[in-house]
Amino acid sequence: MKTAAAGPQVIVALDYASGDEALAFAGRLDPARCRVKVGKELFTVAGPALVEQLVARGFDLFLDLKYHDIPNTVASACRSAANLGVWMINVHASGGRTMMNAAREALAGLARPPMLIAVTVLTSLGAEDLRETGHSETPEVLVERLARLAAASGMDGVVCSAQEAPRLRSACGPEFCLVTPGIRLADAEQDDQKRIVTPQAAIAGGADYLVVGRPITRAADPLAVLDRINAEIATAQG
Ligand code: C5P
Repeated sequence: MKTAAAGPQVIVALDYASGDEALAFAGRLDPARCRVKVGKELFTVAGPALVEQLVARGFDLFLDLKYHDIPNTVASACRSAANLGVWMINVHASGGRTMMNAAREALAGLARPPMLIAVTVLTSLGAEDLRETGHSETPEVLVERLARLAAASGMDGVVCSAQEAPRLRSACGPEFCLVTPGIRLADAEQDDQKRIVTPQAAIAGGADYLVVGRPITRAADPLAVLDRINAEIATAQG
């Protein structure tokens, strides 16, 4: 197995509708035990100020805005995100090699560049959706194609389902960063996730970071759940 990533491997998805709720919840977390993720809903309502507040509290922050635009625009957006002091950002691999290269170049020379990862195929898209948008390959084949393209275009890794992790680990090598959502403890609610994977199985399958939302954000004792997940990760890493 590859060397474990340094620092916390759980990324708590702060899927809240307001900055106040997100900050109140973040106050119940510990930056030494998890990182946090801000996505489109929260960023659209609370913006860069919230990101800077969370960073100032010591959290490593994944700004999950999935940039997809012409290369110059994506490069500028990546530079702006990096200036907020975030730890990880992402782009759509389907934006193409030139777009991903431009994103990578925009971060060159920064003292502490964020990790730059790609989204391959949205897990909400099935074979029929892909056919309608002009793709003849199955989701699995397209995911691997885009992950390989992301690796060749200077991306540090991809977001993927834990089921895909072993295949992408062997396709893209030991240094490629795999970030996996859809994680649930064995005795937890599934919510709307169709294919869930336990923390232990995700790490054993090659994931580096686990994105976990509701199992932590809706817990009566979020730190207790976080500690259970961290303990499972530690066990899986031996
Ligand atoms: O609450 P839950 O643990 O299901 O949240 C998972 C987080 O990961 C959410 O922010 C969701 O948008 C994100 N995500 C996902 N599945 C993907 C990609 C991202 O659940 N394929």
